[in-house]
Amino acid sequence: MGQLDGQHVLVTGGSSGIGKACAQRYRAEGATVYVADIRPQSSDEIQLDVSDSAAWAALISTLPPLDMVHLNAGITTPGRSMSDDPAAPLSDVTDDAYRAIVGVNLDGVYFGARAVLPGMVERGSGHLIVTASMAGLGGMPGDIAYTATKHAVVGLVKSLGATLEQGGNSGVCVSALCPGFVDTPLVAREAQEFIAAMGMPVIEPSRVAEAAMQAMEAKVNGSQWIVWGDIIRQNEQSDFGLS
Ligand SMILES: NC(=O)c1ccc[n+]([C@@H]2O[C@H](COP(=O)([O-])OP(=O)(O)OC[C@H]3O[C@@H](n4cnc5c(N)ncnc54)[C@H](O)[C@@H]3O)[C@@H](O)[C@H]2O)c1
Repeated sequence: MGQLDGQHVLVTGGSSGIGKACAQRYRAEGATVYVADIRPQSSDEIQLDVSDSAAWAALISTLPPLDMVHLNAGITTPGRSMSDDPAAPLSDVTDDAYRAIVGVNLDGVYFGARAVLPGMVERGSGHLIVTASMAGLGGMPGDIAYTATKHAVVGLVKSLGATLEQGGNSGVCVSALCPGFVDTPLVAREAQEFIAAMGMPVIEPSRVAEAAMQAMEAKVNGSQWIVWGDIIRQNEQSDFGLS
């Protein structure tokens, strides 16, 4: 028996890295998994730009009721990384690059949640998992726009979780995953070397999939799950007594 036997699951950004590892894990746990990505890698995967609100409505109308949705697609700011000289930390990001990162990392999560939540609330069950980042909990140097979007999605998860709880236990849960550095194409080889030289761990994407399983098991609305080195644990910091 798998933890997701018989469930229908959607993973965005599931053609690579963390999303791919999560899709594999959910299948191994018994789920039927739909992968949606801007660059699908096979005919089984669905083409979707998560920043396109109309595309979300079209996609959901073609899928069966979803038990779990993992909003995972994300990008970093082209041209900025942790190892950059911080001489021009904001002005070297073009308007287009700024709009692109907000579009994927924040709009993509907001539009996705907005498209799938009504069905979950109506059915009285469902789990939304969002891949945020440790950069959503602290001030990661270098990619400022990325860090801002990840703080925003952590805020979205906290506020949505509190709202779902306030409305009585709807049976619907939302959680954020906050990994540190993960070995995926998102982190350029030279950045990985820089991170390793700083003594920080770079983990396998399967660890993030394990954190997603733990978040689904725990069902704590608005929770944030730190995934760092060997550690997977819920963030204990709370705001104003809310999770
Ligand atoms: N790799 C890390 O160190 C790390 C750490 C913390 C959080 N994250 C987050 O994990 C998530 C997955 O990143 P990853 O490291 O697996 O990177 P990745 O580049 O391997 O995978 C990201 C996937 O998202 C897809 N994507 C990009 N733009 C999209 C769009 N507009 N619509 C749909 N799909 C789109 C890409 O095609 C790709 O398949 C991201 O949200 C990222 O911010 C990554």
